[in-house]
Amino acid sequence: MKQLVLFYFIIMALSASAQNNVNIVPMPAEVKLGTGNFVISPSTKIILEGSNLEKTAQFLNNYLQKNYGFSLKIQKENVTANAIILNYERMDMPIAGAYLMNITKEEIYIAGDNEAGAFYGMQTLLQLLPVSQNVQSLKNNIQLSIPQLAIKDYPRFAYRGMHLDVARHFFPVSFIKKYIDYLAAYKFNRFHWHLTDDQGWRIEIKKYPLLTKVGGYRNGTIIGRYPGTGNDSLNYGGFYTQAQIKEVVKYAADRYIDVIPEIEMPGHASAAIAAYPQLSCFPDEDTPYPAKCVWAGPTKGKQVQQTWGVFNDVFVPTENTFKFLEDVIDEVIPLFPSKYIHVGGDECPKENWKRSAFCQQLIKDKNLKDEHGLQSYFIQRIEKYINGKGKKIIGWDEILEGGLAPYAAVMSWRGEDGGIAAAKENHDVIMTPGTYCYLDHSQTKNEDSVTIGGYLPLEKVYGYEPIPAVLNASQQKHILGAQGNLWTEYIKNENKVEYMIFPRMSALAEVLWSPKNKRNWKDFERRLPAVFNYYKSLGTNYSKAYYELEATVIAALDSNATVAWSLESKSKEEEITVTYNGPLKIFLQQQAKGILKMPISQQGIYTGLSASSKLSQQFFFNKATGKKITLVNEPSKSYPGNGAFTLVDGVQNEKGLAKSIEFLGFNGTDLDATIDLGKVMEINEAVAHVLEETGSWIYRPASIEAFVSVDGITFTSAGKSDIFMQVYPLNKVSVSFQQIQTRYVRVLIKNSGVIPAGSAGAGEKAWLFVDEIEVK
Ligand code: ACM
Repeated sequence: MKQLVLFYFIIMALSASAQNNVNIVPMPAEVKLGTGNFVISPSTKIILEGSNLEKTAQFLNNYLQKNYGFSLKIQKENVTANAIILNYERMDMPIAGAYLMNITKEEIYIAGDNEAGAFYGMQTLLQLLPVSQNVQSLKNNIQLSIPQLAIKDYPRFAYRGMHLDVARHFFPVSFIKKYIDYLAAYKFNRFHWHLTDDQGWRIEIKKYPLLTKVGGYRNGTIIGRYPGTGNDSLNYGGFYTQAQIKEVVKYAADRYIDVIPEIEMPGHASAAIAAYPQLSCFPDEDTPYPAKCVWAGPTKGKQVQQTWGVFNDVFVPTENTFKFLEDVIDEVIPLFPSKYIHVGGDECPKENWKRSAFCQQLIKDKNLKDEHGLQSYFIQRIEKYINGKGKKIIGWDEILEGGLAPYAAVMSWRGEDGGIAAAKENHDVIMTPGTYCYLDHSQTKNEDSVTIGGYLPLEKVYGYEPIPAVLNASQQKHILGAQGNLWTEYIKNENKVEYMIFPRMSALAEVLWSPKNKRNWKDFERRLPAVFNYYKSLGTNYSKAYYELEATVIAALDSNATVAWSLESKSKEEEITVTYNGPLKIFLQQQAKGILKMPISQQGIYTGLSASSKLSQQFFFNKATGKKITLVNEPSKSYPGNGAFTLVDGVQNEKGLAKSIEFLGFNGTDLDATIDLGKVMEINEAVAHVLEETGSWIYRPASIEAFVSVDGITFTSAGKSDIFMQVYPLNKVSVSFQQIQTRYVRVLIKNSGVIPAGSAGAGEKAWLFVDEIEVK
């Protein structure tokens, strides 16, 4: 130990600013680079100086074997040189997992504060190894050269989680293990396994075999984005046996990862109800499904859902249901050593409870305020049962509704408010707000695969701060950490899982592990190419979206064009080319380095090309395109588009929410825009392109009204209409009128108001989504 500390300070003296050359993610708390290298060769030994370090040594050997074709002898006896030594050193850090690493010419010394710490030190070492692709040529004389350095490292948060939904799409044990390896590579320590939902029950429960036999399979899946263009009519499903669950839990434990199972209740229960209809408020009613979705197979009786969203057929809170859930919990608990069992609690519509005489009587008998009180009663009862088994519950932030269960931890997903409220009530919190942690959202504005929507680029994940500033110091202690979530409605295969998580999960790892003052976006950006190389060593797919051209439509730069298309590369040296091949067969081409602003003077399809990306954009012109536009009400901060100009940028959304960046979203408010056409001209129609997606609380507008004015001061109504044209996903509302001379056009698009009863989000403010306004 003494020797080690001395060494640490010598190295510090040698190099004060060497951190810049280290490509480790997450960035260690302290790194000091020395000069020179240590070389690992097949004759290097792994020395175990403490007990229970075999798994860590074996992991290192497996990695060496896979990437470089050799492994090292593991022994207990010390040698004086050419060794990788694994040991323990007391560091007394508040959060488990700290380690020290010192690399000299003679040895690599890794000492964990605990077993996990030694494992994390080994993970750091893997990232210091030269990229495997570059050493293949040395096959017969492999020498892996590693820089001399000293590291002192420890985690910032105790809960560093990643989630995976295996209900919407099922992933086999082999891939779950890979996923766990990815978590381990980035020092995550919690795997939240979302095992049950409307579209599939994925965990064997011996007492209720139909859960997996019936609830584990669906007769089809909608094709494409909700509501879909049809149904694939393929029987789809799968489940994990209890033996497989144990195998996964052990695999994770060997990597110092706790597996937290999620058994959803009281909502998202269609698969369980399909297996055991008595769990429903209305066992004799057929499973409802959205009219606009195509269904495959029988529609009679209870069915496993084939589409996405929130469904009214939820668990009925009878003694029979509680007995069922307790039996399920009795089988789940022995499989998972985790302190926590996740009980879901999110998105439970109250419609059926309102209709059910039994539920209404129960509300009276138990003196509950309403259906939210019933949800709270449900969760508290389950909590008590789980607490009785020595475990704690976690639930999504809806478990705050009607009163929080006394010992529950809260997973804050609908923004940070739920987490803040729970921390103020002295409950532990895991932050996983959709706007920063939902890795199912698109990571690029140019996403060409179907996603659930949203836009969550790498930089935004990296910039997330899990501790809300509004909390005081003692409340802040309840923020245990954060978690990345991967819902798989639109993620059918392993490649896509990997594409969605990487590199955003690596950014989240740094948020969760590195000291706050070590987080530095510019430095992360510098390390990103090395991170990508490491992905190759891990054998994973990943997204290169960060290096794609960034396209925005901006105001025209001169009077010859209508708008301009700005394409920017991350590298100022990268050559960008834009071509246009329109109906007039006029071929235009423009080239520039770093950033190119292409004047768009003709409608048609333009293509931008760089070494790392290619993207196309179709422009549609009308009298409003590129004109000055002002708004009375600002859109929601969550859906600001690219400002008001988005509404007249000549770009019409073709992908619905998958390109939500093209919309301005108004939560409960109207869109009230005034467009200056620049001079007086004749018009006879105003059209708004809108989205309707009621499952996401987005409703068609109540009406559109156009007002005209020659002076911009006095406006008169030209016409009002509620005509709605549905050409999915390009829905429009339009108003036509007699030809009229005007310079200014005010377009008032009324929000539909409050979401009606019987729909998802009933009673909440409806969203109005508009992507383009046309004046003709
Ligand atoms: C959730 O995303 N429904 C927790």
